[in-house]
Amino acid sequence: MDSLVLSLGAAVTAVVVASLAAPAAAQDAAAQRERDLAGRRAFEMNCGGCHSLALPRSQRLDQETWHAVIDDMMKKYGATWITAENRAVIAEYAVRYFGPKRPPGPEPELPPDAALQAIPPEVGVLLQANACLACHGLDKKVVGPAFAAVAERYRGDAAAAEKLFKKLRAGGAGAWGDVVMPPNAVLSDRELKEVIAWVLGVR
Ligand code: HEC
Ligand code: HEC
Repeated sequence: MDSLVLSLGAAVTAVVVASLAAPAAAQDAAAQRERDLAGRRAFEMNCGGCHSLALPRSQRLDQETWHAVIDDMMKKYGATWITAENRAVIAEYAVRYFGPKRPPGPEPELPPDAALQAIPPEVGVLLQANACLACHGLDKKVVGPAFAAVAERYRGDAAAAEKLFKKLRAGGAGAWGDVVMPPNAVLSDRELKEVIAWVLGVR
């Protein structure tokens, strides 16, 4: 009798443990997926512009080296907009997907971003891959001026597209304050003109 009670107890315990473990595993997977998505978003928003995202994507570096590389980007090469939080998120993502071990799968697909819905997809892709959106909002100042404010300032200025083309290639400060915009070396002439034409039309 005692042993029946004991084994019933054990069976109940086993069922309880199993039913607790299943959601816990699902929760872990969901949390990991959130971190992967945040990682891809931060990587794409912060790491383009100076070189193509294909450069980091082609690496297989361990954790220590990724941390050192990202520190170099921030301290040596001028990626001053990367926050401490994004630095950690990007490093974790890089180790998982561009690390020494086989990645857990293909990079996660980002869901469409509500803020980007108003932007034509061909321009949105360029803005996102060149860190533009790390520093500019559509209608709010971030590190640099809101795109709507830029459009407002240059409305009716026939020389604006040419002026902004040179400014984006060379980078610089002075038009909106003391903060420097880094030079963009990745966008082709055609892509840069496309992005500028779009900025000048933002309302
Ligand atoms: C402000 C410009 C800039 C930004 C933004 C930038 N990088 Fe770089 N990156 C460079 C330069 C300059 C080099 C070295 C020259 C080259 O190889 O093109 C480089 C090289 C690299 C390399 C090759 C290894 C090395 O150390 O030379 C990797 C990997 C890399 N970057 C990853 C990243 C990642 C990840 C981010 C985002 C966290 C990022 N970069 C953002 C400027 C930048
Ligand atoms: C590191 C942050 C940063 C990044 C990345 C960045 N910008 Fe800027 N941007 C700025 C700042 C700061 C200014 C203001 C510069 C000034 O005062 O002259 C600016 C100015 C501008 C202007 C107005 C220039 C003028 O002379 O009036 C445009 C247009 C612009 N950015 C577009 C872009 C686009 C497009 C990208 C991506 C290819 C981009 N920016 C990437 C920070 C950034």
